[in-house]
Amino acid sequence: MRSNIALVGFMGTGKTSVGLALSEKLGNTFIEVDAIIAERAGKSIPEIFSDDGEATFREMEKQAVADVSQKNGVVISCGGGAVLDTINVVSLRRNSVIVLLTAPLEEIVQRVSRNVDGRPLLNASDLECRVRELLRTRQPFYLSAADYVVDTSGLEPTEVADAIIDCVTEET
Ligand code: S3P
Repeated sequence: MRSNIALVGFMGTGKTSVGLALSEKLGNTFIEVDAIIAERAGKSIPEIFSDDGEATFREMEKQAVADVSQKNGVVISCGGGAVLDTINVVSLRRNSVIVLLTAPLEEIVQRVSRNVDGRPLLNASDLECRVRELLRTRQPFYLSAADYVVDTSGLEPTEVADAIIDCVTEET
């Protein structure tokens, strides 16, 4: 039986806030993959991208995902690009129910526009266009990784957490 819940999905779909709400409701530890990467690197995610490049970030992400996948009974928030690498999906699947959070394009753009600086991949002159293009290419990866899909539009993090608990009750 898989004992972790891994949240995946595009930037701005609420993985962190929902993960925190979910871990509180379940009494489980919350782990953010990006936080592990930043701690190990001793610098922020944008600094890793600018100093070392995206490929180095992705290698660190792979190691961090493999490590958190070994844990039991935790809620994991993955960076928005984690499921683009099949190895990460395989690692997560071993012990995690994978829940994809989705939101409409407009809501994502509105949410990420509050923190573009913290997201190097969104450093573009036309934010909406950039988000639309990334979403389009990533959608198949998100859908194929997901055990469950939860639409977050118009919901508070605690409401999304309740929807996730409903989905995974039989699994965990
Ligand atoms: C990324 C998403 C970010 C972070 C990095 C790359 C992506 O995480 O891992 O900037 O490729 O979508 P969030 O989804 O938590 O913003």
